[in-house]
Amino acid sequence: MKERTAYIRSVGRFLPERKLTNRDLEKMVDTSDEWIFTRTGIRERRILGPGPGCSHMAVPAAMECLERAGVTPDEVDLIIVGTVTPDMMFPSTACLVQDMIGAKNAWGFDLSAGCSGFLFSLSTACQLIESGRVNRALVIGSDVISTLIDYKDRGTCVIFGDGAGAVLLEACTEPGFGFLDFILKIDGSGGDYLCLKGGGSRIPPTHESLDNGAHYVTQDGRQVFKAAVSEMSDVSVRILERNGLSGKDLTFFVPHQANNRIIEATAKRLNVEEHKVVVNIHKYGNTVSASIPLALYEAVMERGHEFKNGDYLLMSAFGAGFTWGSTLLRWWQP
Ligand code: COA
Repeated sequence: MKERTAYIRSVGRFLPERKLTNRDLEKMVDTSDEWIFTRTGIRERRILGPGPGCSHMAVPAAMECLERAGVTPDEVDLIIVGTVTPDMMFPSTACLVQDMIGAKNAWGFDLSAGCSGFLFSLSTACQLIESGRVNRALVIGSDVISTLIDYKDRGTCVIFGDGAGAVLLEACTEPGFGFLDFILKIDGSGGDYLCLKGGGSRIPPTHESLDNGAHYVTQDGRQVFKAAVSEMSDVSVRILERNGLSGKDLTFFVPHQANNRIIEATAKRLNVEEHKVVVNIHKYGNTVSASIPLALYEAVMERGHEFKNGDYLLMSAFGAGFTWGSTLLRWWQP
């Protein structure tokens, strides 16, 4: 058993005020509220739009974590921002956040893993805390995915929304508590099923790339759906089994909010009761890296009184890459 793990000291979030409802989308593409809700579980999503950038949401989410914990920015050692929509190619959004919040003793970086960005960032921060190199880390998932969406493409525009969520991690020295385990996977052969081809070094922005729509997200929804259900279920079952647990032992399951049917199918394979599955996709859609921390935030804020030290929480993500994984947290608060 590890002598030192990481635990979640506090949570924070930011959601843009502007709502884009299914009814609004009915006026933009050939779709309907009924189709979107039945096929995805989404009713509305939040839109930040171009201009303010990813850091505009990451900063208030991070500050909320610090304020809730009574920790000052100079006490933070590490900032990781999971994102596919950084403010700019470089410097990293982590550098912008560090400067804006005044975390003068922190280092950090951005981590790109599609919708698994928060989970991969969390794992990285946990390992740095376990090693003793870092005592306190801000892990943020923030995406302004609306800036990359073609609002004429009904197959993608109905799914995504903007937002940011964050957690403040600290070292936990109570053996058997905190983040106990991670399983993380990538499979680049799934890359073409969900990608943004333009804007990188292979297709830099040109008039032609703009005209070709290379700067918009493209996806094969059916392939992504199938892979998400099977891979999220597999790693979730595996992480439970290797820790001697089953779905029945969980207090909460916090899945990536990509599609309610993906969530239901995964929960069913895990044998987790419905009331333990955290779902907020109807309000925010798929917020990419922010999806898990936003769901976790709501679980903690609305049902935190149900959390007891020793409760098991499972989080699971799937995203572009393909990237996916699960983590097992044994809840602990000092
Ligand atoms: N409104 C109405 N009809 C739509 C539509 C929309 N917004 N989007 C697609 N359709 C149509 C398709 O054109 C197709 O019509 P056709 O049969 O005449 O060709 C039909 O609905 C079925 O399309 P399909 O793609 O099979 O639908 P689906 O049930 O798989 O749902 C997604 C589409 C995108 C909602 C679903 O595949 C999905 O959620 N995939 C995962 C996407 C995801 O999670 N991405 C992020 C991963 S992190």
